[in-house]
Amino acid sequence: MVAAAQSQPPPAPQTAAALAAGGYVGSNVCKTCHADVWLNFYKNPHYKSIASGKEPPEHTGCEGCHGPGEKHVAAGGGKDTIPRAFSLMEPRRVLDTCLGCHARDFEKANIRRSEHTLNDIACTSCHSIHHSPVAKFLLAKKQNELCYSCHAPIRAQFEMPSKHRVNEGFVECSDCHNPHGSFAATWGMGQRGHMVDQALTNETPCLKCHVDKRGPFVYEHPSVRVEGCQACHRPHGSMNAKLLTRPVVFTLCLECHNGGGTGTRNKGVDIQTARHNLLDPKFQRCTTCHVRIHGSSNDQYFLR
Ligand code: HEC
Ligand code: HEC
Ligand code: HEC
Ligand code: HEC
Ligand code: HEC
Ligand code: HEC
Ligand code: HEC
Ligand code: HEC
Ligand code: HEC
Ligand code: HEC
Repeated sequence: MVAAAQSQPPPAPQTAAALAAGGYVGSNVCKTCHADVWLNFYKNPHYKSIASGKEPPEHTGCEGCHGPGEKHVAAGGGKDTIPRAFSLMEPRRVLDTCLGCHARDFEKANIRRSEHTLNDIACTSCHSIHHSPVAKFLLAKKQNELCYSCHAPIRAQFEMPSKHRVNEGFVECSDCHNPHGSFAATWGMGQRGHMVDQALTNETPCLKCHVDKRGPFVYEHPSVRVEGCQACHRPHGSMNAKLLTRPVVFTLCLECHNGGGTGTRNKGVDIQTARHNLLDPKFQRCTTCHVRIHGSSNDQYFLR
């Protein structure tokens, strides 16, 4: 089949000796029968290995993923004659095949222990190598539709009165999540799950866009650092205009400032004191006075 490879124009820049080794026949041979796949392949980032001609055959073109094609071609096709027919592969084998080249891309992702991998969601659940309808990253669908195809209940959260505008295309799931996985972080008590991504220096991804919310402040509101933004915000969407976990602000504050209990979560705000008369609606709008609620460099009570 080496001869067949060389008869295909334009010749791939590989030597016959290299091709013959291990049953590799070269990508040009595949064109004869898989013209549909071939004709789009020049647009694929994986075409680079063919164009450069510098990769060994097992890392070049079609056979870089599907394995050596000699037997397959000799048999005139068939799913079971090609070493890696993805339609027949277990998710773990798909993962291993792709990670054969991409392992280094996921040093920050803990990919083998991600919730997706542990639930048999592999690369080809989200990426379509040959039929991607989007311009970037070979995704199987537009990103939010891709995620909703398995996470249907999340769609409703992004249709709440207030939300991050994911459906409108201003923010993406991957601005806050790494679908490939994530490591536990030092913020949020190190309990971060849900494949929440991190910003530089191991920080909450919210800071990529809301840099001012984390200080540094002389007077910190400890829960911003300790429990993390989710202590007070529902990041997908909420009934509250500021994406708070509660519809009205004082009920949120009183979760922690409830006058009872123990530990750091207790800085009691009594129902009626000279300072806070909670029966007066004015005092229920806590943030009209405590305007620097995330922290302040001027006032320990976050009043300015
Ligand atoms: C980056 C890895 C990769 C490369 C490179 C690659 N393929 Fe594929 N191929 C796949 C995957 C994964 C599938 C399974 C379907 C999918 O996800 O698109 C597939 C499916 C196929 C199919 C089944 C039909 C179809 O359209 O899905 C054929 C035929 C095929 N590939 C041929 C080729 C040929 C020919 C080349 C070289 C031009 C090639 N492949 C290069 C990964 C690859
Ligand atoms: C002589 C024609 C011919 C040539 C040359 C050929 N194929 Fe195929 N290929 C087929 C046929 C026929 C099938 C079977 C399709 C089926 O059963 O649905 C097939 C199936 C495949 C599949 C199965 C995909 C799946 O999961 O269903 C892959 C991958 C594939 N070919 C890759 C290649 C690659 C890579 C090359 C070049 C090294 C190549 N083929 C060369 C005819 C050919
Ligand atoms: C033979 C090595 C190799 C294999 C195997 C391989 N890739 Fe790739 N992949 C590459 C290279 C090289 C690039 C191009 C990187 C660049 O643009 O510099 C790439 C690019 C990509 C991109 C696009 C990245 C971007 O920035 O647009 C995606 C997505 C991708 N690969 C997914 C996969 C998946 C899924 C598999 C398994 C089905 C796979 N790859 C298997 C080498 C490989
Ligand atoms: C749950 C869906 C999902 C799975 C599973 C998945 N990806 Fe991705 N991948 C994405 C999305 C979404 C992006 C785009 C991220 C962005 O916009 O920043 C992406 C981006 C990429 C990129 C380009 C950017 C980067 O991070 O380097 C590569 C390469 C890639 N994926 C390869 C893979 C490989 C290889 C696997 C399997 C080992 C895999 N992906 C599994 C959804 C997924
Ligand atoms: C603005 C940042 C942000 C965006 C955008 C975002 N998420 Fe989240 N998501 C989070 C955070 C933070 C958590 C963890 C919440 C917690 O710990 O209470 C989470 C939790 C989740 C969970 C697990 C908890 C649950 O409610 O089931 C899923 C699944 C999820 N997100 C999917 C998605 C999908 C799908 C998208 C895109 C359509 C998306 N997220 C967009 C920040 C975001
Ligand atoms: C093919 C189906 C599938 C696709 C596509 C998919 N997921 Fe998942 N995802 C799952 C499964 C299954 C789990 C694990 C079970 C669960 O928690 O729902 C999971 C878990 C998660 C979790 C952790 C949930 C938790 O409670 O900790 C997040 C976050 C998440 N996915 C985000 C995404 C994002 C973002 C995308 C799009 C880039 C995406 N998923 C695409 C199937 C999918
Ligand atoms: C990719 C950038 C980006 C990331 C990451 C991000 N946000 Fe946002 N956020 C925005 C934008 C843009 C708006 C403006 C909302 C709009 O008008 O669509 C917003 C609005 C908000 C609002 C409401 C503000 C208002 O006055 O309407 C809150 C609260 C918020 N984000 C919290 C968070 C939290 C918590 C996280 C992390 C879980 C986060 N954001 C991650 C871009 C981002
Ligand atoms: C202790 C509760 C709490 C924590 C923790 C918290 N926030 Fe807030 N945040 C609020 C309240 C309350 C508001 C509404 C302020 C108002 O009514 O004006 C708010 C408003 C916002 C707004 C809207 C713009 C603004 O300044 O009013 C953004 C954006 C925001 N928060 C981001 C974040 C981010 C990012 C984090 C994590 C680094 C975070 N928040 C942590 C309570 C909190
Ligand atoms: C998740 C728990 C939590 C929530 C929700 C919360 N706080 Fe706090 N807050 C704390 C903790 C813990 C401290 C530090 C108390 C201490 O030092 O004893 C604190 C400190 C304060 C202080 C400074 C008190 C002092 O003596 O220095 C003010 C003012 C304050 N919070 C107001 C609010 C307001 C207003 C809200 C609602 C928007 C709110 N907090 C929501 C946990 C919370
Ligand atoms: C009308 C303005 C105003 C409103 C509204 C208000 N506060 Fe205060 N708050 C103050 C002032 C002033 C202080 C004390 C500053 C000082 O002692 O110098 C204070 C102090 C605090 C403290 C520090 C502990 C203490 O009692 O000294 C907490 C906690 C607190 N407020 C929480 C709340 C919460 C929760 C709400 C909403 C239910 C709220 N505040 C509404 C003005 C207000």
